[in-house]
Amino acid sequence: MKIDIFENNKKWVAEKLHQDPQYFEKLSQGQHPEYLYIGCSDSRVTAEDLMGVLPGEVFIHRNIANMVISIDLNSMSVLNYAVRHLKVNHIIVCGHYECGGVKAAMQPADMGILNPWLRNIRDVYRLHKDELNAIEDEHQRYNRLVELNVQEQCINLIKTAAVQTAYKERGLLVHGWIFDIHTGRLIDLKIDFPKILQNIMEIYRLD
Ligand code: CO
Repeated sequence: MKIDIFENNKKWVAEKLHQDPQYFEKLSQGQHPEYLYIGCSDSRVTAEDLMGVLPGEVFIHRNIANMVISIDLNSMSVLNYAVRHLKVNHIIVCGHYECGGVKAAMQPADMGILNPWLRNIRDVYRLHKDELNAIEDEHQRYNRLVELNVQEQCINLIKTAAVQTAYKERGLLVHGWIFDIHTGRLIDLKIDFPKILQNIMEIYRLD
């Protein structure tokens, strides 16, 4: 291995214990995160680091291109556990510019087992085809698809019973963000959660 991870871990433990001798004892007592973060698996988009949060503060799920797919047992389990059991009050979908998953979905190529996953991003393109095809610059079109993909994944969250119930019960909110990998800044897409909810409820109401 290029990096001595176990050596790094030893240093990290020593540093934490130096700051607070009870650090791990406290960690072991349980978690009460306020946020669920759904982001991309990209190695450059390190969730806790870019948000400046501490262990215990954010429940995290990452997959290729930060997707929320209703038949994906993994993300649906994370969502239901976070919302119904941990009772998070905010869900964040965080995409990022230069996302390899989104880029792959824009190219005509057989990607094997990735095909069904990327298909969901192609569906986002189809939904917003007119807007996207009107953007001449390819890189700008790519950036816009990254944003629209986040928006659609927020909508996918809003389609779930867990989110609809928690919104009614305690005002849970869904947020769409972009990590701008060129500057390090987080951009809030300002998804109008109550408005989207209202718009889609006619079809997607579950309770
Ligand atoms: Co990505």
